[in-house]
Amino acid sequence: MSIIQKIVSKWQYFVSSFFYLGYTQKALQYSFWRDGIERRFPPPALQGFERPGKLLEHRTESWGVHCRFEHSELTVRFLAADLVRCDWLSEQLPVPYAIARDEWPALAVEVQAGAQGVEATTGAMRVRVTPDGRVRFADADGQTLREELPPDHQRGGWVHRVSLAEQERIYGLGERAAPLNLRLARDAGGGATAFQMWNFDMAGRYGPGADPLYISIPLYISLQPQGSYLVFYENSFPAAFTFKQEAVAAFEGGALRYYVGIGPVEKLLERYTELTGRPPLPPKWALGYHQSRWGYETEAAVRNVAQAFEANDIPVSAIHLDIDVMDDFKAFTIDPKRFPLLGEFTRDLARRGVRLVSILNPAIKADPDLPIFRDGMERKAFVTTPNAQAVIAPVWPGWCAFPDFSDPEVRHWWSEQYRYLLSLGIAGFWHDMNEPAAFVAWGDRSLPRPTRHSMEGRGGDHREAHNLYGLLQARAGYESLCTFRPEVRPFIVSRAGWAGLQRYAWTWTGDTESSWGALAMTVAQVLELGLCGIPYSGPDTGGFRGNPTSELYVRWMQLSAFLPFFRTHASNDARSRAPWTFGEPSLGIARAFIKLRYRLLPYLYTLCWEASRRGIPLVRPLFWADPGNKRLWDIDDAFMLGDALAVYPVVREGERAREVVLPAGRWYHFWDDQVLEGPGSIRLDAPIERIPLLVKAGSVLPMEEDGHLALHLYAPESGAFAGAIYEDAGDGYGANRIERLRFSRRGEGLVLERSWEGGFAFPYRGVRVFVHGVHVGRARVDGRQTSWSGEYLQVDSFRTLELD
Ligand code: NOJ
Repeated sequence: MSIIQKIVSKWQYFVSSFFYLGYTQKALQYSFWRDGIERRFPPPALQGFERPGKLLEHRTESWGVHCRFEHSELTVRFLAADLVRCDWLSEQLPVPYAIARDEWPALAVEVQAGAQGVEATTGAMRVRVTPDGRVRFADADGQTLREELPPDHQRGGWVHRVSLAEQERIYGLGERAAPLNLRLARDAGGGATAFQMWNFDMAGRYGPGADPLYISIPLYISLQPQGSYLVFYENSFPAAFTFKQEAVAAFEGGALRYYVGIGPVEKLLERYTELTGRPPLPPKWALGYHQSRWGYETEAAVRNVAQAFEANDIPVSAIHLDIDVMDDFKAFTIDPKRFPLLGEFTRDLARRGVRLVSILNPAIKADPDLPIFRDGMERKAFVTTPNAQAVIAPVWPGWCAFPDFSDPEVRHWWSEQYRYLLSLGIAGFWHDMNEPAAFVAWGDRSLPRPTRHSMEGRGGDHREAHNLYGLLQARAGYESLCTFRPEVRPFIVSRAGWAGLQRYAWTWTGDTESSWGALAMTVAQVLELGLCGIPYSGPDTGGFRGNPTSELYVRWMQLSAFLPFFRTHASNDARSRAPWTFGEPSLGIARAFIKLRYRLLPYLYTLCWEASRRGIPLVRPLFWADPGNKRLWDIDDAFMLGDALAVYPVVREGERAREVVLPAGRWYHFWDDQVLEGPGSIRLDAPIERIPLLVKAGSVLPMEEDGHLALHLYAPESGAFAGAIYEDAGDGYGANRIERLRFSRRGEGLVLERSWEGGFAFPYRGVRVFVHGVHVGRARVDGRQTSWSGEYLQVDSFRTLELD
């Protein structure tokens, strides 16, 4: 970075920190105080080693092997045939906040020792520890997938190096503003980005290249010609990851405990979410369209928004209330003057099918007159400095204290606080500022690093607890919703998080700038989160800060309509933004895509069900459809939505056609049934009113049309395909229904066989069958000849459909 660039970036940083002048003095005061605390309480100076030294002995265990080196010890424990946990002897083990499963079935592990070191294997995976402390992970055929150098453990930190092959791709690390293949990321000086693990408030604006963001997860997936693996470091301390000739993970403290899984990417995600938990099925309404804006200042303003949706014939499932709703920005309050009848209002909106989601910040105003603050102080619920002084930092309400969510009693206390908002009918919570964020004049926008946290009673500092803060707030919130509104499913959106966040919350990509670059980076962001086990995310459609042109907004809508969390949101200094803001033709296009989203709900909901059972994301990299095709490995301007749809958004200004790289197989253009054969690439039209959207041959795409279940059959060339559709009441925990489909080609015709299970009654008026790719002259429904209207076949029900 040149000196001028540095000055400009410092100046921008300074200006953004001072965005709210009212907070300037507090931000200055706090920044001085924080620096003082950090100087006064430096981290402990710990002994360590540069290399573990020679392997002295090993002990074979039923689950793996324990190795003793001159200066360290290593435990290799198989949890499953293709998943292993490695522990280099550390001062302290992590509190297992990320981990959902600790009991694993016994396995047959074989251990052999020789001049090359010790090898433990389950047959499916081999782990070899060499005499100098390298660790190699190989598949059943002995092909090496990962080779670690001996770790370096000095001054309490860990540096862990792993060799990278030239062709190797790396994905993951949580939320990043980087290319999907993280090896392509460059810093401002053109060097490989050093990705930081430190959840960070972007304070109003960021674009491509910013790092870190709000969610850091020390997990990456490596994809190579000979296979793929996943590594998750269970270490929440600050760290930096770089990917050059080596992957280097450098942690400031904590344990070197990590998990390595091998196998196809889909299987890696299944294993990883078996370890860290699967995302529960969301309420179906959450898959609809959400409207939000920082700046809906009154109940009347929100009512007008809801009415405008009706007037413009646009469906909406939720409206979000930003900090405007609060009384003086105090958490868990509603301003009675501006939102006088919120309880009635939520009921009224609910009758029209619209839910209210309320923002909730973790910081509590440090005001002795405020009962929640007094109560928290009495209970010692807030984090303190090492000399037991409360940590008080400025956020929206002014000086604030920060609940210690790593204390189980505080989580419980916090969970009780939701009751009032729940009693008003608030349907979901939007956890913001939970990195946790504080307003500063310089330096880190969070709490002093020596701040003490309970860590379930064993104690720890903010270096360890910082990245866990949002995760643990989400856990408290989730438990609250399960306890106080057990009949429906919780809905929480959390800005910050760590490994395991998927068990409790969705997320969004925060304060992006309103630019084409930010639109383009959204695809990789959502993909990356999904590859880290967090399947539900999406952007502020149109970007948070700034004003999109109508073209940018329309293109953003066309992307967001296919992302799990579909919401428009904007900063309070942006012009009002909603689907109708730009008039025609934007309004008509936005309406069409929002309606298409609702028509796709049977498909999307089935993907949610799949995610809840297997942990695989809804939105997947294009290579998911054709993993061996290297051409797809770096693609991050297109994605798969489930197995059936390939989405190619337009992310460049003025573009009216775009290159479409096809995974192997036959594809149909969604809009006109044009047949395309992959692999390969083709330029397809992308006029302003649509984007290339492809459907894989062999798919049955379930959609909802006029209260009917519309089954869109995309004819395969040959073969048989299995599919399912998941249905239930859309919320709660009642009966469900799984429709199983078997779709095959028979000569020139098609056969669709259907069966179902589960106690939930078929929720549609009937079934409509649409056929794409073959001409149908005759239809037989359960053996009976039926007339074919031309466009589609309508039946009440069927088990076997023969079309030719
Ligand atoms: C920061 C959040 O990222 C943004 O979405 C929100 O509008 C503002 N805080 C105000 O609450």
